[in-house]
Amino acid sequence: MTGTDDVLLVHGGTPLEGEIRVRGAKNLVPKAMVAALLGSEPSRLRNVPDIRDVRVVRGLLQLHGVTVRPGEAGELVLDPSHVESANVADIDAHAGSSRIPILFCGPLLHRLGHAFIPGLGGCDIGGRPVDFHFQVLREFGAVIEKRADGQYLEAPHRLRGTKIRLPYPSVGSTEQVLLTAVLAEGVTELSNAAVEPEIEDLICVLQKMGAIISMDTDRTIRITGVDKLGGYNHAAVPDRLEAASWASAALATEGNIYVRGAQQRSMMTFLNTYRKVGGAFEIDDEGIRFWHPGGPLNAIALETDVHPGFQTDWQQPLVVALTQASGLSIVHETVYESRLGFTSALNQMGAHIQLYRECLGGSDCRFGQRNFLHSAVVSGPTKLQGSDLVIPDLRGGFSYLIAALAAQGTSRVHGIDLINRGYENFMEKLRALGADVELPNGARAV
Ligand code: EPU
Repeated sequence: MTGTDDVLLVHGGTPLEGEIRVRGAKNLVPKAMVAALLGSEPSRLRNVPDIRDVRVVRGLLQLHGVTVRPGEAGELVLDPSHVESANVADIDAHAGSSRIPILFCGPLLHRLGHAFIPGLGGCDIGGRPVDFHFQVLREFGAVIEKRADGQYLEAPHRLRGTKIRLPYPSVGSTEQVLLTAVLAEGVTELSNAAVEPEIEDLICVLQKMGAIISMDTDRTIRITGVDKLGGYNHAAVPDRLEAASWASAALATEGNIYVRGAQQRSMMTFLNTYRKVGGAFEIDDEGIRFWHPGGPLNAIALETDVHPGFQTDWQQPLVVALTQASGLSIVHETVYESRLGFTSALNQMGAHIQLYRECLGGSDCRFGQRNFLHSAVVSGPTKLQGSDLVIPDLRGGFSYLIAALAAQGTSRVHGIDLINRGYENFMEKLRALGADVELPNGARAV
């Protein structure tokens, strides 16, 4: 929705200063919630942020008979003792809300023998196909029928472990394999798997439930199926993507932000890049302080990649800071084919960013010969001016907030409700950091 009811007025030019806290990762928590469906006992998930994706999964679990109740602050207790089929129309009401519903396939096939998956949502940053997901499910023995309203799946027999090689180390497809293989009969060997920290954390969750999973150093994951899983008690890994967003905001606004909950281990690649750009940080046991140390920032060459490379979700917020660096920065986006479109609004604010179809910088990627504008040259430093902005996707949207905060003058940022998908209480956090933001008269709080 990008109507007048979710507009934020941002008066820029004030450095963001203070402390905020990040909780469990958006890209782990909803998946750990789905994992609870595999167990025969209740699970307790801690460090759960109040974001839209969590609410969507909670609704879907409840439709399938899982009771989900809040425990102590930031806790969810999920009881899957009475899993049942849900009404297709009720599930379909969640169509377009998130990408997580596709991860219900394996657990529902194990628990019920059938599943219905509605049309998926998620950010518009590329085609976002799900062909790998359905391919691996077929290899486990699932029968899939595509109909107008969504995908109908059945498992006529118990799913069987299998040998799978992903064409690309896709995060979601790796999770699909994990959530399916743990209760499948026999051994599954997955090669070319994604190994993001959130995947490791999901493996920790599944191991607590009784799964047998080993990870080799060459992106191979082996899962020995078991007959039954129990519950888990787990504190979700902190959100390294949100932490990096606030770090980029500190740099772009010449501010100083302590991100409580940020962890060095999962952010090492980001921290190296931050230092190369000229950002400063200090790590302690509770979090990381990020700040602009004064003086000019450095232009860099940046290439996004699967973990342990530079995470694609870090790219958009950092690009805003690169508009303030001296010289030419080169950005090569190799994970999503259309994740640089957000830069046209930065240009409207005064940035100089030119997009290219060629692979610029490091290596050739899947998109080089396919006519996608997936490389950028950012010339800086450029002064940014407030503007009218329409949020295109989650990370692009947060980047617009950063740009508006770094700019002179007032910006009207439309569609801010989208940011609630992945940033908990972002309005309160902005205010805690001294941002001059307001909802126009008559607008509802988001
Ligand atoms: N891909 C296919 N076919 C598939 C699946 C993926 O071609 O069946 C391609 C995608 O089109 C993309 C690449 O593989 O080019 C990587 O996609 P991946 O499956 O890894 O992404 P995802 O699981 O859909 C998750 C995060 C994203 C994050 C990516 C990469 C969640 C809910 N989403 O998406 O997070 O960018 O992994 O790390 O976990 C975000 O947080 O803003 C966000 C978009």
